Amino acid sequence: MERTFAIAKPDAVRRGLTGDILKRVEASGLSVVAMRKLHLSRADAEKFYDVHKARPFFSGLCEYMTSGPVVVMVLQGENAITRWRGLMGATDPKKADPGTIRRDYGIDVEQNATHGSDAPETAAQEIAFFFASRELLG
Ligand code: RTP
Ligand code: MG
Repeated sequence: MERTFAIAKPDAVRRGLTGDILKRVEASGLSVVAMRKLHLSRADAEKFYDVHKARPFFSGLCEYMTSGPVVVMVLQGENAITRWRGLMGATDPKKADPGTIRRDYGIDVEQNATHGSDAPETAAQEIAFFFASRELLG
C-alpha cells in the first residue's frame, strides 16, 4: 500500500470538475483517505512549490495556485504514486495521452487541472504539509 498527495487545482475547481476527477480516482480503485477544500495563501503556494523557486514560471505558478480554491486529497492504493500520475497524464495537456485528466481538462502547461506527488519522499512531505496524521483514514 502506498499513499500519494493530489490536488484538484484552481482551474479545475472553478470549472466544476472536482466531481469528475474524484469519479476517475474511485473508478481506478484508488481510495481517498483524506480530503479538504481550501484557498492557498501565497506563502502556502511558495512553500509547496519551493522546488521550482528558481524556474521562470515560479511566480506565475504561485499566482495561479492562489487564484481560487483547490481540493487537496490523499490517495491510497498499490503503486498509488505512479497510478495517479498515470491518470493525470503529462504536465503539458497537449502531450498527455488521450483519456487522461490533463488531456481532457487541462487548459495549458500551467493550468493543468491536477497535481500529483512524484516520489515517495515528496508524497510524504506533501501529505504532512496539508494533513495531520489523525486526519488520514487508517
Ligand atoms: P505537479 O507537480 O503540479 O503535479 O506537475 P508535474 O510534476 O507534472 O510538473 P512540474 O514540473 O512539477 O511543474 C509543476 C507545475 O508547474 C506548472 N508549470 N508551468 N509555464 C510552464 O512552463 C510550466 N511548467 C510547469 C504546472 O502547473 C505544473 O503542473
Ligand atoms: Mg511536480
